[in-house]
Amino acid sequence: MAKRLDISDLNIYYSDFLAVEGVTMAIEPRSVTAFIGPSGCGKSTVIRSLNRMHEVIPGARIEGRIALDGEDLYGREVDPVRVRRQIGMVFQRPNPFPTMSIHANVIAGMRLNNKRMSKAAADEVVERSLRGANLWNEVKDRLNRPGSSLSGGQQQRLCIARAIAVQPDVLLMDEPCSALDPISTLAIEDLIGELKQEYTIVIVTHNMQQAARVSDQTAFFNLAGVGQPGKLIEMDATEKIFSNPSKKATEDYISGRFG
Ligand SMILES: Nc1ncnc2c1ncn2[C@@H]1O[C@H](COP(=O)(O)OP(=O)(O)O)[C@@H](O)[C@H]1O
Ligand SMILES: [Mg+2]
Repeated sequence: MAKRLDISDLNIYYSDFLAVEGVTMAIEPRSVTAFIGPSGCGKSTVIRSLNRMHEVIPGARIEGRIALDGEDLYGREVDPVRVRRQIGMVFQRPNPFPTMSIHANVIAGMRLNNKRMSKAAADEVVERSLRGANLWNEVKDRLNRPGSSLSGGQQQRLCIARAIAVQPDVLLMDEPCSALDPISTLAIEDLIGELKQEYTIVIVTHNMQQAARVSDQTAFFNLAGVGQPGKLIEMDATEKIFSNPSKKATEDYISGRFG
């Protein structure tokens, strides 16, 4: 649990298009790393490369190295399905399986891996995961209702419960609050603060206040212009990035001068 990611000289392509160039960074365990930067600078592309979801797009590939506690995730004998289990992902729009029950949603990932789980074992995973996602008290009396019966904020916490059910090492979240109201957003932010005690968390956000509130480290990405690759401009302690960044482009972005 909670492993570190080391990214070196990462280039990411969509066919011939170099979307992200030359990213080198370390993502520390038991902490939250925020990715910020203007639309199109490659934040989603980078986060998807971390658990090998990028390569499911035809023609998509990477160069460079991404290591989880020293293991090259793109090594020739590495199973990408196993990587995606170790490095879970939560998306912008909550995407529970709508007709599946809340209970079945939580263990959906486990069923794929272990079809012969007993009812008692399944119930235990469901309770642990829903408690971990701060959702248990709200749903414990209606576990057999469909996932779609929940509010947007609850659905997003259900997706987080589904992601942590398989006990991953890293949780990736790509703008997890951008479809949520302010109250649900605060609930997710509180939850991220709790989850970081056990997991390595990477969150993409376009909300500066959110990055400042939830993250320990912030990485600022930028691109020189349309058709140019996105690059990591600077990464530092969140406090430093938001008070005294080293690069002028970072300062311009966080003070709202562009983006
Ligand atoms: N599936 C795709 N196929 C081709 N190009 C893509 C695809 N997804 C993203 N891109 C391109 O990669 C670049 C980075 O996009 P993205 O990672 O979505 O940026 P961000 O998340 O920072 O807004 C953009 O130029 C975008 O158009
Ligand atoms: Mg994006």
